[in-house]
Amino acid sequence: MSDSLNHVAIIMDGNGRWAKLHGKDRSYGHRQGATTMKNLAVKASELNIKTLSLYAFSTENWKRSEKEVNYLMKLPGLFFDQYLKEIMEANIRVRFIGFISDLPKATQKVVANAISATKNNTGMELVLAVNYGSQQEIVHAVKSYANDVALGYRENDLEVNEFENYLMTKEYSQVDLLIRTSGEYRLSNFLLWQISYAELYFTPTLFPDFDGDQFESAINDYQSRHRRFGGAE
Ligand code: IPE
Ligand code: IPE
Ligand code: MG
Repeated sequence: MSDSLNHVAIIMDGNGRWAKLHGKDRSYGHRQGATTMKNLAVKASELNIKTLSLYAFSTENWKRSEKEVNYLMKLPGLFFDQYLKEIMEANIRVRFIGFISDLPKATQKVVANAISATKNNTGMELVLAVNYGSQQEIVHAVKSYANDVALGYRENDLEVNEFENYLMTKEYSQVDLLIRTSGEYRLSNFLLWQISYAELYFTPTLFPDFDGDQFESAINDYQSRHRRFGGAE
């Protein structure tokens, strides 16, 4: 594993289509997707990836039916009930990005419990993006910065590196590899700032079917790329 692969982010897409293909309702696809999430987290930690960020629920996903939204809000609870033991065994530290305080109280409790149960783990950071939207994150950061300037806490002299301290991802490095499943070629408001120089990998595989071997294929593809960051040979 190359040292340069610190942060992998995944837009986990295609659960609904996967369910339809199997003649089941959308929640069945999300349930299967949760198992895939756990498998990928364990795999990524075995591969010594430092940070794995998974897009679980966007600020735009509230547009879905009440039934689906309710299920997606219950899913973190089901996920940790079933998989916390394996997450602990893999020494994974669970973190969240997104507007967590706007989630239902029960979901917030699950989030807080997952953070506290895993806070002393020293292995991979698993960052779950729940009620996350990148444009909203950036606007929130701009407001916090403007507020700090207005209160005289800091000068009006913002630099790129300092701006990152206002983002929800301030503790994590820039994304090295961004993967999107399900054959869609878009970012859907995920980590727009943080992927400035990420390598992009798109696969037609629907998320529930994206297994450890396919994850390794994506990483091998990444390893064959030549990142220049604007420089020249
Ligand atoms: C991704 O799968 C999971 C979430 C966005 C919560 P989708 O639910 O978007 O599945 P498709 O895209 O409809 O197949
Ligand atoms: C992106 O998937 C959001 C998550 C994976 C949580 P969507 O299915 O919501 O994206 P669009 O609507 O196809 O762009
Ligand atoms: Mg989708």
